[in-house]
Parts: sequence; C-alpha cells; structure tokens
Amino acid sequence: MEQLTKELQAYQRRLEAQNEALRKSKLALAEAREALKDRIRERTRELEATNRQLKEIVREKIQMADSLSISETRYRSLVESTDDFIYLLNEEGAYLFMNNRTRSYYNLLPKEVPGRYYSEFHAKKQTAVFMERLKQVFERGTSIRQEHQQNGRYFLRTLSPVKNKDGTVRSVTVVSKEITEETRLHADLSKINEQLWEEQSRRIMLSRRLINLLEEDRRRIAGDLHDQVGQRLTSLKLNLEQVHSEIRDQNGPLCAKIDEAIGKTSHVLNDIKNISRELRPAILDSFGLVRSLSRLLKELEQKGIRTHFFQKGVPERFDPEKELALYRIAQEAIQNIMKHANASEIHVNLVKEKDNICLSVEDNGIGFTPRIVNQVAEKGPLGLLIMRERAFQLKGELTLESAAGRGTHLSVEIPLQNI
Ligand SMILES: Nc1ncnc2c1ncn2[C@@H]1O[C@H](COP(=O)(O)OP(=O)(O)OP(=O)(O)O)[C@@H](O)[C@H]1O
Ligand SMILES: [Mg+2]
Repeated sequence: MEQLTKELQAYQRRLEAQNEALRKSKLALAEAREALKDRIRERTRELEATNRQLKEIVREKIQMADSLSISETRYRSLVESTDDFIYLLNEEGAYLFMNNRTRSYYNLLPKEVPGRYYSEFHAKKQTAVFMERLKQVFERGTSIRQEHQQNGRYFLRTLSPVKNKDGTVRSVTVVSKEITEETRLHADLSKINEQLWEEQSRRIMLSRRLINLLEEDRRRIAGDLHDQVGQRLTSLKLNLEQVHSEIRDQNGPLCAKIDEAIGKTSHVLNDIKNISRELRPAILDSFGLVRSLSRLLKELEQKGIRTHFFQKGVPERFDPEKELALYRIAQEAIQNIMKHANASEIHVNLVKEKDNICLSVEDNGIGFTPRIVNQVAEKGPLGLLIMRERAFQLKGELTLESAAGRGTHLSVEIPLQNI
C-alpha cells in the first residue's frame, strides 16, 4: 500500500511536470503564432507596396507606349504627307525606306522599295557623285547639304547619319526639297539686280559728266566774260575817257553825260569781275581751298554778316576735283543762307579728321524742314540736290540739320584719298 501510494505520488508529480511542460509549450506556441502573424502582416504590407509600384510602372509604360505610338503616327503622317522627298539608304545605296512622295515619283508600291538601288533611278554620273557624298556621311558621321539638278529641276538635299548606340553610322536619311521656283526667282532677282547696278553706274557716270560739263561751261563763260566782254568794256571805257578829256573844256553838259557813262561802265566791269569770280574763282586754282573760303567769307563781312572761319590740319593743296566740290558746296550753302535764312552769323569749319576732310556751314537763321528738299522733282530748286550729288560722286556724305527757328547746319565729309 505504501508502495502504491509512493508510485501514485510519483505519477502525480510526473503528471504535473508534464502539465507544466505542456502549458509552457502552449504559451510558446501562442507567442510564435503571434510573431508569425506580425511577420505575415509586415510581408503583406511590403507586397502591397511592391504591387503599387509595379502598377505605377506598368501604367507609365502603357502611357509611354501610347505617346510613342502617337508621336510615331504623327511623325509618319508628317513624313508621308510632305512634298519633300525623304528616303533612307544603306551604305551600298540600297533604299531601306521611301516616303509617299518619293514612291509616287518613281511609281513604286511600298513593298517594291526594299532591294532597289539609287543607281536604278539616276544617271551614272549623278549616282557616282551621290555615292561619294553617301560615303562621306558614313565615314564622318556628320550631315552634308548640297544642291543638285535633275531633269531641269533643282533640289536642296540634306544627307544625315542615323547612328547606332556605339556611334557608328547605321544608315543615312536623305531629305530632298525642290527649290526650282526659288532658284528661278533667285536667278531673276540677280538679273534685275545686275540691271539695276548697271543703271546705277550709268546714272553715276552721267551725273559726273553733267557736273563736269557744268564746271567746264562756267569756266568757259567766266573766261569769255573776262577776256572778251571785259576787254571790250575796258576799251570802251578808255574811249569814253579819251572823248571826255578832249571835250572837257568845250561842252559841259555832254561832258557830264560821258562822265556818267564812264561810271556805269566801271560798274558793269566790276559786276563782270564778280560774276566771273563766282563762276570760276581763280584764287581756288592758285591758292587752294582754305584761302578761297576765307576770301568768300570776307566778302560776306562786307555785306554786314558776322563770319567765323576755323580750319585745322587741312593740306594747303589736295585733289583739285575735291577742292572744287567742297568750294562749290560751301558757295551754295552760303548763297542759300543769303537767299533764305535771314541770318546774322555764319560759322564755317574745315577740318581734317583721320583721312577725311569735313566741311560744315552753320547759320543762325530761320531754318527749314530739310525733308522737303529730298524729293526730286522735274522742276524746282536744285541747289541742295547738286550739293548731295557732288558729295556722293566723291564717296562722301552730306548731312543737313535744320528746324524752323533753329538755324541750319550743313556738313559734308569726303575721303581725302581716292578709294
Ligand atoms: N540755310 C537755309 N536756311 C533756310 N532755308 C534754307 C536754307 N538752305 C536751304 N533752305 C531751304 O531749302 C530749299 C532748297 O534749297 P536749294 O538750294 O535746293 O534751292 P533754292 O536755293 O531755293 O534754289 P536753287 O539753289 O536751285 O537756286 C530752299 O528753297 C529753302 O527753302
Ligand atoms: Mg540754293
């Protein structure tokens, strides 16, 4: 009995121990299950995120494919509907692609394009030139642009390389634009331009000759006035003086009349001297521009106008044609001041600046609006136009600044050396 009790107790302890172990393992199992659940939840979250990313990538890819196909469609319709010839060639000159325009030009269906060569549609010489260009693009990897002619039509052709990822040239695109109309227009324009140029040269030559003629006429008239009319008047005056001295004591009234006639003759002689000097100032030929201008201004002083003359660096003598032109311009400017300006003061500057001679004539008169005088008319004033023409003939430039009530400033600049 005692033995049995002991065994029972031992059995009970084992049972309790087993229960304890069972409880612990249950507890561990529960904990493990919870941990597993946590991991599953975490993993699910991760999977969901990956899924979302994948979906986004797929959506983007679909979008890209869509826009790619849209742009390809656009590009295709552009290439197919253009009037330009577009084609793709390999190194041997075989067509890989031809757009609609090219195919219809050669009367080909799309499936008939592969396997055809450039040489089949072009003359031998043309093909040789083109193949040389094609070779250049394959070798250099850069575009070439050239004009070419075919059946009397003109084209502007651009050959551009299509490259592999490593930079080598895979094929060459050719875009050929017809420029027949533009080329003809250009040729016509060049012809018109040439005619205009010739016309302009003729006009320049003519006006140069006219100005020279004008000067020659003035010189001749001045000579005639001085040598013929002047001399005859001088001799007439001498005659009158002779008669005057012969009848001085006999006929008082006649003597007074002859005296008056002598006075008038002297007056006319003086006028002739002035006119012929204006027509051709001998002083210009003998002493040059600076002294002639200063003389011109001195004469004005006698007419009651204040004048200022400034000169700097001007050679005593230079090209007679230029001296004369500048003198004539100053002369006309001064005549204009006397005729129109109602001025009391004139400034004339003659300065050498770099390689140019600059003349300026300025007055303090009533001024005017210069724009009006730039219009050439059949009739009307010529002074300013001739001044401009003289400056233009000598590759110079004339500017005129004036405004009502603010005087007039005329300046002209001409190169000293012939260009
Ligand atoms: N210094 C000036 N002051 C005011 N007006 C001027 C002056 N210079 C020119 N003009 C104006 O410009 C116009 C044109 O001058 P331009 O020398 O061409 O002709 P013109 O003197 O009238 O005639 P022409 O010189 O042919 O005998 C003049 O009629 C005048 O109205
Ligand atoms: Mg005038």
